Amino acid sequence: MKKHYDVAIIGGGIIGMSIAYHLAKAGKQVVLFEASEVGKQTTSAAAGMLGAHAEGEGYEDTFFQVGRASQSLYEKLKVDLRHESGIDIRTSAGGIMKVAFTEEEKQALCRMQHLSTFEWIDAGSVKKCMPQMAENILGAGLIKEDVHVEPYAVCRAFWKAAVMYGAEVKECTPVIEVKREKEALAIRTTVGTFTCDDLTVASGVWSGRFFEELGLSHSLYPVKGECVSVWNQGPALEHTIYHDHCYIVQRDSGKLVVGATMKPNEWQTVPTLGGIEAVIQKASQLMPSIKEMPIDQCWAGLRPATNDRHPYIGRHPEDQRILFAAGHYRNGILLAPITGEIIRDLIIGKPVKKEWLHAFRIGRKEALFV
Ligand code: FAD
Ligand code: GLY
Repeated sequence: MKKHYDVAIIGGGIIGMSIAYHLAKAGKQVVLFEASEVGKQTTSAAAGMLGAHAEGEGYEDTFFQVGRASQSLYEKLKVDLRHESGIDIRTSAGGIMKVAFTEEEKQALCRMQHLSTFEWIDAGSVKKCMPQMAENILGAGLIKEDVHVEPYAVCRAFWKAAVMYGAEVKECTPVIEVKREKEALAIRTTVGTFTCDDLTVASGVWSGRFFEELGLSHSLYPVKGECVSVWNQGPALEHTIYHDHCYIVQRDSGKLVVGATMKPNEWQTVPTLGGIEAVIQKASQLMPSIKEMPIDQCWAGLRPATNDRHPYIGRHPEDQRILFAAGHYRNGILLAPITGEIIRDLIIGKPVKKEWLHAFRIGRKEALFV
């Protein structure tokens, strides 16, 4: 007899794991299938910034509201997950300093000036707290709430806590096919077929093949990001430095994570010399001393992108038993807690903000991001 679950989840990155945690905690019988190892794909490549302000370019749109809501969920989660899993998700203090070199960049940043979470700091004051910063900056916007976490630690903590609440996690178990039978959904994997009442596709950039299989024409494409980490030999950075998709993040271990390139439609996950060179070039314009620091390692990951660069979070338009949580692009770490809550609430029948569901629905008209 096939084993039956309330909910099956495809994909054990931070998004799938957050969903497994929230549903198992709500009392659902959950199984999660992971093709390789939990959290070892795009999730492990991330810097871990919770960049609701920094990534949103100062616009107070739905992305910003959802990002801020998810940022605040992390406050309670770090305590709960510590208690439930014993894992510290390593939330930093300090936030992001978004640098301006030109008057135009300053104006763009100062769109956030009316927010109590934003503070413009002139170049002299920046240099006082961040002596490592380049001489020629005009100043920086300080966003203290855009803290960072350790992505793999968050994923592992969700995993351990989900299992504690009864979820089953099957690693090295790719889902091969989903069959929509009348009485239940059948999930064919390499270790057999399972059935479930509800299914969530959360397999990152690899979710695209399930769209096709489940009768949808949507697609996801990768935006490859290459990073390098170095051992910081100077004073620790008080704030993450951020400018034009380049960032330098201080880790507790003493490492600096330096990222990242943006290469659309590249599926190869090995970093290239040219990519790392570009990252070092940009980072050293922000912090010249970084060039002298010993390299720890280089890596790359595939951001799952939709055409408008916002995720799909919601139900299949024609089959209510199937949900999607994919396409989190540059912000999957930030959005993992809220995505877990939205999918949980849809499945257990709790209300979810209509404007959020509308913004992230599958089948929306996606303006092409330029
Ligand atoms: P993944 O982590 O890729 O997980 C998907 C999982 O599905 C994988 O483990 C895969 O093995 C599995 N899978 C695939 N196919 C199948 C199948 N058929 N059956 C079973 N399992 C399957 N976000 C932030 O918020 N802050 C940051 O600072 C940040 N920095 C980043 C830096 C870089 C360089 C990159 C590349 C990304 C960054 N991101 C950041 C984005 C973030 O990493 C992603 O949005 C997030 O990891 C997506 O998570 P996911 O769970 O959807 O995908
Ligand atoms: N959010 C940082 C990145 O995707 O590189």
